[in-house]
Amino acid sequence: MVILLIIGGSASQKLAANIAREMRESLCPMETHKFPDGERYIRIKGEVEDGVIVVQSTGYPHDENLLELFLILKTLKNMEIENIKVVIPYFGYGRQEKAFNKGEAVSAEVVSQLIEFCGASEVYCINLHEDGICDLFQIPAFNLSAIPVIADYLKNKLNDPLIVAPDRGALGFAEEIANIMRCDYEYLEKNRISPEVVETKIKKLDIKGREVVIIDDIISTGGTIVNATEILKKLGSSRILVSCVHPVLVEDSLLKIFAAGADQVIATDTLKSEVSCVSVAGLLADALK
Ligand code: R5P
Repeated sequence: MVILLIIGGSASQKLAANIAREMRESLCPMETHKFPDGERYIRIKGEVEDGVIVVQSTGYPHDENLLELFLILKTLKNMEIENIKVVIPYFGYGRQEKAFNKGEAVSAEVVSQLIEFCGASEVYCINLHEDGICDLFQIPAFNLSAIPVIADYLKNKLNDPLIVAPDRGALGFAEEIANIMRCDYEYLEKNRISPEVVETKIKKLDIKGREVVIIDDIISTGGTIVNATEILKKLGSSRILVSCVHPVLVEDSLLKIFAAGADQVIATDTLKSEVSCVSVAGLLADALK
């Protein structure tokens, strides 16, 4: 029998523990702290034999979480562990997968190359902002979808809801959820003016007294969801449930979403947050088995 120890990085300890429970594997003890000057210390304390699964989201603080991941991976590589599966539930820097303007760093490429250099043999991510990130790796890289897990959570909690994508990019998610929940879906037209400012066109939708679920991959500043929520509220929706895979939730974004009229916000635990109530542990455990 192949024994896989599971290491949870600082950003994903609870998720790592839940994956270990789902897989009936053990957690690998690891010591991690910062020196007084702020530099990170890592020590793998478990006896890794056949292989290891490292779980670390690389959301805020991105650079610290990334560096910790690199240190863990390279330590395992130095220990001559060949089977190193890396789970990155939220892939930071995933929105810069190409140079949109001349001279820009292709951050996602640099990150993927460093992960590989440090010793990863396989990579598992969830709802990457761009599917193409998998192609930046020379090793097997998988992009799993948490949408069915979200749909499962929502099932039986709502009465014939309308699933709404807050922009065209999220239309596929809305369709996927609607197919699973056997209900209708729609989308709104969004125009991004800047990283902080978005415009959303008002659309005539017959939703007076109807429950609505908004679905997006990421909630970052909350601008996209705030606009969608305000529009759906004005159209007379009786209940607005906001859902997303990755709750990046910059500053007071959650407050703004509730202030706009959302009744509930739910997200997965790819990132730790106060609305991370849907676990992707089972999804990851199935893929890793
Ligand atoms: C956009 O392409 C994404 O799917 C999200 O809509 C976006 O990242 C959300 O950002 P924000 O919350 O800042 O509007």
